[in-house]
Amino acid sequence: MFVFAAVTILALSNACQGYNLVSSLRSVVSQEVSQVEGRLAKKLETLISLQNAGGSGASCSAASGWGRPFNVFGKGDNYYLAFRGTAGVGSSVYEAYIGDYSKKPMRNIEPCCTQVNGSLPCSGHYRNAGILNNWQNIEEVVVALYERGVLKQSLTFDAAGTDYLSWFSPANLKDAGKWQDLKEKTTNFFSIAGDTLWKRRFFINHLYLGCLADNGWFLAMDNPLPPCQYEKYSSFPQFLYSSGTGRMTWSSSGEVAQADVMAIFVKPYNGCRSK
Ligand SMILES: *[C@@H]1O[C@H](CO)[C@@H](O)[C@H](O)[C@H]1NC(C)=O
Repeated sequence: MFVFAAVTILALSNACQGYNLVSSLRSVVSQEVSQVEGRLAKKLETLISLQNAGGSGASCSAASGWGRPFNVFGKGDNYYLAFRGTAGVGSSVYEAYIGDYSKKPMRNIEPCCTQVNGSLPCSGHYRNAGILNNWQNIEEVVVALYERGVLKQSLTFDAAGTDYLSWFSPANLKDAGKWQDLKEKTTNFFSIAGDTLWKRRFFINHLYLGCLADNGWFLAMDNPLPPCQYEKYSSFPQFLYSSGTGRMTWSSSGEVAQADVMAIFVKPYNGCRSK
């Protein structure tokens, strides 16, 4: 197509000055390049979705192309790492999860970022595009908070009928881990976007009563300049959570703990078995 267009321009432009010819050629070339880029991007997308579907698309078993399985609860290798947020790396955990790479290029990260021990070298967030860009065949999602590789708290969500953002909601919460009050109490925030103004992401909060009395369960503090004392740290993001059996007051409770890794695991459906 490009050759044809270029030849056409050459043929039509015998009478033109060299400058006009060059600029016509330039615009043809740049048009052709952007068309080719568009076609390549589409092909790549198709390939990725085929790979995620397990090649044929007819299979009920998921998890092909999801990476290695994790034995999160010591009860079997049922989980795959969809995302890992790393504390203190100085880039937004929310943006990394959303995956808007049209605005920012994806960061190159170390191989240790695909595991959950925050003591091993990793300077970024890990996003498993094979899972998050094609949210399919997922039965369950687990948010797991780790300190130096030790699982401290976890939340389990039912993923049926969800998308990669909506699963994190009170309606889908199946198991609240150590937080016995979370299922009964009301929340003023319980979503991945959380408090967009103050960049409190993956936010599970009970009440806003001012910096001294705000209380809740979990907060991915994603703000380099946060307003309240309880979320001021030397670096962001920070994964702050209640280490007790229920919610806490962010400012005054001795129960606020910091996770170095927030992992999001997905469990695939186990085939097409009837319920
Ligand atoms: C995490 O990595 C550190 C550093 O290698 C190691 O000392 C620690 O035992 C690991 N934690 C777990 C739970 O394996």
